Amino acid sequence: MQDLQKRPIPSTKEMLPIVGLGTWETFDVTPKGEEQSQLKDVLKTLVSKGASVVDSSPMYGNAERIVGELSQELDINKQLFVATKVWTSGQAEGIKQMERSFLLFKRKTIDLLQVHNLMDWQTHLKTLNDWKEQGRVRYVGLTHYLDSAHETIESIITKHSIDFIQINYSVNSRNAEKRLLKVAADKNVAVLINRPFEEGALFNRVKGKPVPEWAKAFDCESWGQVFLKFILSNPHVTCVIPGTSKVKHLLDNLGAALGRLPSEKERQRIVEALS
Ligand SMILES: NC(=O)c1ccc[n+]([C@@H]2O[C@H](COP(=O)([O-])OP(=O)(O)OC[C@H]3O[C@@H](n4cnc5c(N)ncnc54)[C@H](OP(=O)(O)O)[C@@H]3O)[C@@H](O)[C@H]2O)c1
Repeated sequence: MQDLQKRPIPSTKEMLPIVGLGTWETFDVTPKGEEQSQLKDVLKTLVSKGASVVDSSPMYGNAERIVGELSQELDINKQLFVATKVWTSGQAEGIKQMERSFLLFKRKTIDLLQVHNLMDWQTHLKTLNDWKEQGRVRYVGLTHYLDSAHETIESIITKHSIDFIQINYSVNSRNAEKRLLKVAADKNVAVLINRPFEEGALFNRVKGKPVPEWAKAFDCESWGQVFLKFILSNPHVTCVIPGTSKVKHLLDNLGAALGRLPSEKERQRIVEALS
């Protein structure tokens, strides 16, 4: 099999595979329960195929704990690029929550710590920058999932030193294309994309429709790959993080990191096919 395509994190030039994994809802399962073994296969497959980015948050119930336990069982901690978040207000509460994430992930270093939905970002950025200096955190980021936050994110990254932003962008929600993706590139900020399938809703829009022949020209075998390749064909995107609890869907999603990406004309056809 071909290697998954990678793109550089602008602030260090470290290379990241362009498709990763989100854990919202999908990894919030009962510890040691039946679903945990299915998720173990998901993480094992992710790493065996050469992907690495796993995104979580203390907001996602048991997800951090499940990723931590499974990555220890599978002994894949070194292969993963673990991204999580701080989602609370106040310095002391933030520190307490992030310390808990280190324990749950069973790690001394977290690759990327992001301020979730910009919540009390000024306070947490101070802690995160200190921890980055100490080597506890490798990269610092900000996240949001709504277009309405893009302007604020743009303003923060033009004034502060931020390694990553994580934002919403999909064939159906294209606001990020207008300015933010370009500004992020100009400011050397890496970009993770959340909600690439609009929480799965995009699949309902194409229910019963076969994947168009023309999409095969840019190496898509499924609608999932069409949606992901639409996002990845923007050169300012670093990595997209679809959430899934299924190996079959993970393999489908990782397929978007192979082969050709759509041209501008082909992107337009994707938009038209969804309208
Ligand atoms: N503010 C924030 O920081 C923020 C907000 C939202 C999301 N996020 C992050 O971004 C990640 C992705 O967003 P999301 O999980 O909300 O939505 P999403 O990735 O757009 O969609 C996830 C849904 O799509 C389904 N799916 C995945 N791959 C599929 C495939 N190949 N074919 C068919 N169905 C497929 C999944 O179900 P199955 O389990 O059945 O595959 C799941 O229901 C989250 O998990 C989270 O890590 C962050």
